[in-house]
Amino acid sequence: MRVLGILGSQQPNGITGQSLQAVLKGAAETATTDWINLADYQITADHDNQPNPVLDSLEAKLLAADVWILAAPTYIGGLSGIMKNFLDCMRNRIARYNAVGEAVPDRFKNKHYVTITNCYAGGVENFVTGVTDAAFKTMDKFLTMGGLIKVREIVVTKTFGMTTLSTKKQAECERAGQRAATKKERDDNTMKRYLELFGMIAVMALVTMGIEAGIGRLLPLDNFWAYYGVFVVVFYVLLASILHFFTVVKHRRR
Ligand SMILES: Cc1cc2nc3c(=O)[nH]c(=O)nc-3n(C[C@H](O)[C@H](O)[C@H](O)COP(=O)(O)O)c2cc1C
Repeated sequence: MRVLGILGSQQPNGITGQSLQAVLKGAAETATTDWINLADYQITADHDNQPNPVLDSLEAKLLAADVWILAAPTYIGGLSGIMKNFLDCMRNRIARYNAVGEAVPDRFKNKHYVTITNCYAGGVENFVTGVTDAAFKTMDKFLTMGGLIKVREIVVTKTFGMTTLSTKKQAECERAGQRAATKKERDDNTMKRYLELFGMIAVMALVTMGIEAGIGRLLPLDNFWAYYGVFVVVFYVLLASILHFFTVVKHRRR
């Protein structure tokens, strides 16, 4: 197993760099690790079939690795420019594109990835406002175009004035690295997803019936259609909330 760290920060030894090194340290227990600092490369996009040795060498490293660890701080509410430029320039190589320009996962399909970002904002502020979501979303978008499978994301908050990663975050990063380096399965989580869906529906139906029992004490729900109508409304509200949570607030924020 080969694990490749990709750093897109202005400071190689900052909190982002330290988080990346901690993940690589954990991974190194069982895997071969390597890392690149994107700031060391003059990365430009491919143009008119001109040679692009920098992108070629980065692409070769990506191909050789089984797991990618992308680490980039949140700058001005989004992904750092260094990482964004790398993703923009690699866009045409991460996937094949069909006749209507849709990405078709190709050579990088089924590799695994971990993403790391951080921010000055505190844990509570990030939890409420999702300052780091945009950085995660941009990396996810690029990586899923290539058919890569996410292992997890790591976020470090309240980094203003922080010079060293906390012991707790260091340990969390190392554990994530150990796990990423030993994850073998491909994205065959169909059974797991059906079971999760079953669990969700079972819990929501139970909660809905509990709420209905409460409403039934205040309003008569003996009529079949009244019972059914209240069930549909309560179930819908719960389902909408849970879907909102998984689609909008799904990124790690603390
Ligand atoms: C140019 C720049 C822009 C930043 N923008 C934000 C921001 O919008 N929100 C925020 O919470 N932190 C912001 N930060 C803090 C970074 O996200 C990051 O936490 C900090 O630079 C620590 O990472 P480092 O030690 O790897 O540089 C910014 C930092 C820099 C240098």
